[in-house]
Amino acid sequence: MVKIAPSILSADFCHLGRDIERVSSADWLHVDVMDGMFVPNISIGVPVVQSIRRHTGMFLDTHLMVEKPGRYVEAFAKAGADLLSVHLEADMPPAIHAALDQMEALGVKKGVVLRPITAAEAVIPYLKRGIDLVLVMTVEPGFGGQSFMADQLPKITAIRGYIDQYCSGCDLEVDGGVNSETARLCVAAGANVLVAGSAVYGAADPAAAIASLRA
Ligand code: DX5
Ligand code: ZN
Repeated sequence: MVKIAPSILSADFCHLGRDIERVSSADWLHVDVMDGMFVPNISIGVPVVQSIRRHTGMFLDTHLMVEKPGRYVEAFAKAGADLLSVHLEADMPPAIHAALDQMEALGVKKGVVLRPITAAEAVIPYLKRGIDLVLVMTVEPGFGGQSFMADQLPKITAIRGYIDQYCSGCDLEVDGGVNSETARLCVAAGANVLVAGSAVYGAADPAAAIASLRA
């Protein structure tokens, strides 16, 4: 069963509670945290996650687009994130492993994210240690509304193979330019969680858009 994770980056932040309710038929809520350093944009921080947590029981899939993300693991875990994912490009491998250890200790699910430039093989050491999610970016992180990079599909297939080999049960999520057409390509390549920002919030009927992503 494919899980759908609407990205609130495309919501109206003046009506965030309303816009979260609009996607309540989805499986997860995708929260994009940007620091203006790792990516050239600034979005949501710890207090916003805290407020979202008080408002909804949805699973908060929190994507940290932040330099040296280990600095913020504890704060986002305490704010109520259910899963934190850190970019492999955001720090050296020992620091990424330390951030994952911290997530484990704090009882939140842990994921790693790959920018389009990063090779599939980079996830192998993390799958071997045990993680809950791999997120493959199909746009350059930083902004919603960009076009899907189809050249990332072979990477999704390769990572599905590594997951089956080293860490079965790990979720494989895709983020960037996912709509009802590209969703099919991602699922065929082996993804089982789909993030969608503009395809959900840009639709007149977000619930119908979520249903069409599942189909
Ligand atoms: C981009 C973010 C995405 C973004 C996706 O850096 O990580 O989650 O919101 O937006 P769409 O679905 O519009 O590409
Ligand atoms: Zn994201």
